[in-house]
Amino acid sequence: MRNALYQQNNYPMVGTRALDVGAGIGRITRQVLVNIFQQVDFQDQNSTFISQGLGEMSSLVEAGRVRQGIVHPLQTLTPPNKEYDCIWIQWVIGYLPKEELIATLNRLRPSLRKNGYLIIKENCDDELYHDDGDNYLIRKVDDWVNIFNESDFQVISHEEDRLLPKTIKPVFFFLLKPKDEFKAEDMRGPLLPKRRRKAL
Ligand SMILES: C[S@@+](CC[C@H](N)C(=O)[O-])C[C@H]1O[C@@H](n2cnc3c(N)ncnc32)[C@H](O)[C@@H]1O
Repeated sequence: MRNALYQQNNYPMVGTRALDVGAGIGRITRQVLVNIFQQVDFQDQNSTFISQGLGEMSSLVEAGRVRQGIVHPLQTLTPPNKEYDCIWIQWVIGYLPKEELIATLNRLRPSLRKNGYLIIKENCDDELYHDDGDNYLIRKVDDWVNIFNESDFQVISHEEDRLLPKTIKPVFFFLLKPKDEFKAEDMRGPLLPKRRRKAL
């Protein structure tokens, strides 16, 4: 996935904007998205995280690279139309039941610009797993793919992030394109170099 993102040479890409969803204090925003996109918004339902993120990323905010922190629950998040080239959703959708997740993805669809895409990064397991402590659902890879494909998006690639240690459940990237822009040739094989997971 990272390889696909970095295939173009000029970063950050001029005129582009991304949204980091369920961003917490903006870890993905600062470590990944600002390197690729000219402007980044980050969103979380927790105002303390957003304030902390804005403080820690103040130089990026002053430079206009981080445009805003949005305090809003994912379940009703409705960004303006054609606002983003990429929406990155990491470690948050396990809080949403299936129907709410599909409705959320569909609500995000209009906010993507032409050729925009979603990147979802999630824990996976061999069986459905409910983390009682956090009220978080971890699904099988195929179940995630099937749910995403029930929405207005098509999964065009998915693969494991093998840079993460074996001590945590497998984490997969899912690359999703809006169905109304999808063509058969968009389907992709693995994008990351093959690596063994670290034992730690
Ligand atoms: C495990 S953290 C992941 C943070 C970030 N995506 C990352 O990978 O570093 C989960 C985040 O999701 C946020 N969150 C949980 N439920 C949410 C909801 N319904 N709407 C928006 N954010 C939510 C939490 O406040 C928390 O910041």
